[in-house]
Amino acid sequence: MAPEEFVWLNDDLIPLSLARVSVQDRGFLYGDGFFETLRAEGGKVFFLREHLERLKASAAAFRLAFPTLPWEMRLRQLLAANGMDRGVARVKILLTRGAVEGLGLPPAASPTLVIWARPYIPPSPEEYAAGWPVATFPEGRATFLGRHKSLNYLFYLAARQFALDRGAKEALILEADGRISEGAATSLVYLSAGRYYTPEAASALPGVTLALLSRALKKQGLGLEWTPTHVSQLKEAQGIWLANSLMGLMPVASLDGEPVTRSDRSSFLQQILGAEAQASDF
Ligand SMILES: Cc1ncc(COP(=O)(O)O)c(C=O)c1O
Repeated sequence: MAPEEFVWLNDDLIPLSLARVSVQDRGFLYGDGFFETLRAEGGKVFFLREHLERLKASAAAFRLAFPTLPWEMRLRQLLAANGMDRGVARVKILLTRGAVEGLGLPPAASPTLVIWARPYIPPSPEEYAAGWPVATFPEGRATFLGRHKSLNYLFYLAARQFALDRGAKEALILEADGRISEGAATSLVYLSAGRYYTPEAASALPGVTLALLSRALKKQGLGLEWTPTHVSQLKEAQGIWLANSLMGLMPVASLDGEPVTRSDRSSFLQQILGAEAQASDF
């Protein structure tokens, strides 16, 4: 029998099979909540402070009280309870407004907080070497919600499915004006004339991995620049990468079926990002 999984539901560390959230929970009814996905390795959770800062900022922007908790202790207990103090894990922190009536953003009498860890199998070295095919999702998106990791994730799931249906592994998301925004679950980085860029986009999520990569590049005397980007600029780039907390940096192999230029800078970027992760607090 597989060992029982444990999850934090508010202040209780309980078996997953017993964890229940009300049908009145606004996370379920309206997607009224936020989440973070973090990577843990050997019991170490990467960039916890940065993820909590983003979650806290989103909670504040939507009038949701942010819980004061011994986060590190809770995460350690969770990983230990699930035997994930070894190996790689995907940690999810979900915060919703809980069960409270009213349209608008009523004060949360009892918000719901879930912290969950599951094993994560990263892409193989061969997959990183081959890179990912990417397909452009034709529906542009312009919403302030995009700047938050909200539970309204359906747009991104539909975009990813669009990509999967075309044999790609990630979808390229456009802003409503047709400029590049980000990936469906990733930020975008590209190399052009020897400089590293990421699209400046009104509706894109401020990626933790991007911020960390920017910091790592700075330490190398380099930089990451935020700049409005057209599809044509991306097609002319000397290298494109997808970035997120779980995967790190994945090179893009093709865009809408056309191969893109590959850069030999992947292992350098992965290495400096990895060094940041090892240096992160927890
Ligand atoms: C829409 C979107 N953009 C970007 C990212 C990358 O963010 P991070 O580097 O903080 O994991 C994610 C992460 O899942 C995402 O869902």
